[in-house]
Amino acid sequence: MKIAILGIGNVGTGVYQIVQENSKEIFRYLGSNIDVSKILVRTMNKDRKIPIEDGILTNDFNDILKDEEVKIVVELMGGIDPALEYIKKAISHGKHIVTANKAIMATHGKELEALANENGVFIKYEASVGGGIPIINTLMESLAANKIEEIIGIINGTTNYILTQMTSENLSFEEALKLAQDNGYAEANPTSDIEGEDAAFKISILTSIAYGLNVPANIIYREGITKIQKSDIEYTSELGYKIKLLAVSKKHEDFIEIYVHPALVPNNHPLASINNEFNALFVKGNAVGELLLCGKGAGSLPTGSAVLADILSVAKSIKNDIENNVAVHDIENCIEVKGMGKSQYYVRLQVIDEPGVLGNIAMTFGKYGISLESVVQKGRGEETVPLVFIAHDIEKEMLDKALEEVGGYEYVERVASILKVENV
Ligand code: NAP
Ligand code: HSE
Repeated sequence: MKIAILGIGNVGTGVYQIVQENSKEIFRYLGSNIDVSKILVRTMNKDRKIPIEDGILTNDFNDILKDEEVKIVVELMGGIDPALEYIKKAISHGKHIVTANKAIMATHGKELEALANENGVFIKYEASVGGGIPIINTLMESLAANKIEEIIGIINGTTNYILTQMTSENLSFEEALKLAQDNGYAEANPTSDIEGEDAAFKISILTSIAYGLNVPANIIYREGITKIQKSDIEYTSELGYKIKLLAVSKKHEDFIEIYVHPALVPNNHPLASINNEFNALFVKGNAVGELLLCGKGAGSLPTGSAVLADILSVAKSIKNDIENNVAVHDIENCIEVKGMGKSQYYVRLQVIDEPGVLGNIAMTFGKYGISLESVVQKGRGEETVPLVFIAHDIEKEMLDKALEEVGGYEYVERVASILKVENV
């Protein structure tokens, strides 16, 4: 079974390595070998992390397009241009597609699935969400008879790695990001990871599969982790929480609640112990109940494993003459989309340390109906000190109004941090 890979960076290398090292397992499943006959790269004479067979690298996509023996094109370049154009051309030439590209699947997935159907080829994208975790096939196949009610999880490895390293190794944000990049977890432009865009793409993809609803990533409320300070990590940990970047998608009767944001997770919650590049997803279906899937959410081999699962599935269908007659999954235009509802919040203020300040601020909160679960004042003797609150359930709008008033007091230097407490 001849395949071509577009791109041999972090994920491409993992795929190539698995094909070489696990050939017996592949043969046992498929009854034939997978032969990587061409690999598209940008730079021909670059040092590669693993030895690549002579003569298979090319920097001309047409070499792949024209090769009739290549049945499956595996897109692992990333970005929209020119990856999208190459995928469309490959489909139009009757080639099946496997991709790990969440940016493309979240923004052009519907169009590509329709094009693939028209051309009788498969397009599969398990590796686009959750790295090595088989979440897409679980939703599409294993849970196909369920009404999915909610999906909540940690779906970005880079940010989880950064938050873990800042917490347990006391690294700075920049040091931890550099390590995530060195380990091959981050996107080519890591802004997408740290500003929550990558997670928004992924929750958009999962939402379309789970509920058949099209919620474009650009309308999903998202907040990344760039504003999180080491002091927030320290104080929240004293209060019994871990900070995690969560993606949430809940289907209600006539609206969908969907967002990506850093949140406080109680230490005794399973998501609090998901560390480093690991991802975890809670899925709730009306028949199956709650499921927790967890594993490495980024990195060369775990992601390569998910890509290979798709390659083998398509290869088996080709061998067995099974055509892609699966209906494009039913992505309707979305019903109303809402962000975060009522919740507990963590608030850190930087205030002048003098008598009466805490009392006045608590009174203002009371005026807006906000009751406080815990209050911690840190430091003494400095000009300004941090004042940390955990507020009981409150609408974010009400909290914002209270903080606008509090932020105007002459003894409040600034509202330094507001984080939702996720009672998942
Ligand atoms: P990467 O390390 O940056 O590798 C990209 C590869 O694509 C490189 O080999 C590069 O060639 C090639 N390439 C890029 N633009 C090209 C162009 N215009 N023409 C020809 N070749 C081109 O990326 P990655 O981390 O492997 O990620 C690949 C995809 O997988 C992305 O969509 C990403 O979102 C997704 N993904 C990544 C992970 C992960 O853990 N890294 C996990 C899940 C999904 P050169 O080597 O010659 O520069
Ligand atoms: N950059 C992504 C992450 C790769 O860190 O989760 C896996 O999709």
